[in-house]
Amino acid sequence: MYAERVGGLKSSAIREILKITSRPEVISFAGGLPAPELFPVKEMEAAFRTVFSKYGHLALQYSITEGFVPLREKIVKTLAAASGCTSIRNILITQGSQQGLDLLSKLYINRGTVIFTENPSYLGALQSFCIFEADVIPIASDQDGLRIDALLDNLARHRPSFIYLMPSFQNPTGASLSMERRRKLIEIVKEHDLLVIEDAPYGELVFEGERPPSLFELGGMRNFIHLSSFSKTIAPGLRVAYLAGDQEIIKKLTLIKQGTDLQTNTLGQFLVDEYLESSNHREHIRTLRRTYKHRRDCMLSSMDTHFPKSLRWNRPGGGMFLWVELPERCDAKEILQKCLESNVAFVPGQEFFPDGSGKNTMRLNFSNAGPEKIEEGIRRMGEELKQMGL
Ligand SMILES: Cc1ncc(COP(=O)(O)O)c(C=O)c1O
Repeated sequence: MYAERVGGLKSSAIREILKITSRPEVISFAGGLPAPELFPVKEMEAAFRTVFSKYGHLALQYSITEGFVPLREKIVKTLAAASGCTSIRNILITQGSQQGLDLLSKLYINRGTVIFTENPSYLGALQSFCIFEADVIPIASDQDGLRIDALLDNLARHRPSFIYLMPSFQNPTGASLSMERRRKLIEIVKEHDLLVIEDAPYGELVFEGERPPSLFELGGMRNFIHLSSFSKTIAPGLRVAYLAGDQEIIKKLTLIKQGTDLQTNTLGQFLVDEYLESSNHREHIRTLRRTYKHRRDCMLSSMDTHFPKSLRWNRPGGGMFLWVELPERCDAKEILQKCLESNVAFVPGQEFFPDGSGKNTMRLNFSNAGPEKIEEGIRRMGEELKQMGL
């Protein structure tokens, strides 16, 4: 009685783990949650009052599908003119970037449509592509992001409807596409006239040096669609994000969004706009960067102290996640079961791999727990790993 597309759906392991980690005694490195103590609660309270005194009943009324105009104007200003994105007609406000992915799936995917992703890739995007029955082809990726040789290899055999990429501090590994590969990729994309969906919710959370330029800024709108979100830089509960792209694409997505939810919640959009207007958002981002960098460093030094030497891990230059490789024979799911007995959780990496590999990998989030909990959680994990003979 259900539609065929529902048959292949399974519950995300992350959502299942998050049910366990909501217990207060559990130290969780599992979710992709921002640090709650850094949410700008006072500033939001003030924005809430201002929104109602400024706009009154309008803040509670239906609004246009494209999104609140002043907010779209602010977004246009932040996107480099080099991308060609100079008009609010290039911007669609979405109910989180997850909705952007859903709308794009509706726009581009038929049953069996070929798309390319990194390997591993973001689970929420894979879920969205799978609902629309895409043929997902994973492209080998390493510490510098998508491997160009693997991309070329696959392009010789397939023409993807689009390539889905997270060039900056990707979920799950924290890896970023190097500048050299960004340039090479843009060359290839233009040469083959391909479409890239760039998902960049972590782009601002950079710990060292300058923010890497987005593919959208470097490559322009003809071949790139850019997704970004206020979930990681303000608060995810607001569910306000945006999608930037060619006006024709935005028009189509707007029609699809009408059939999906009419519009993104009015109050959330007004609040984000007022917050950006009246608070020091750049300073807030600097605080997030400092805090998350400190937490990353704390996790790395705890791992040096407590983890067995047979494990390998990376040192991401930003974002919220760190990536760990266990010896090949290990199954991270079994290790998770053991760790849960010690009230510490992480996400086994396998689910992020469209090709089903990565059994011996794990994703650790370092943004949510404070330094003391990070140290204690890593110590408990280290104990379990050693008891398992690693
Ligand atoms: C890569 C990536 N894209 C999209 C999302 C969804 O974010 P939003 O809260 O804007 O829907 C996430 C959330 O973790 C993410 O990691």
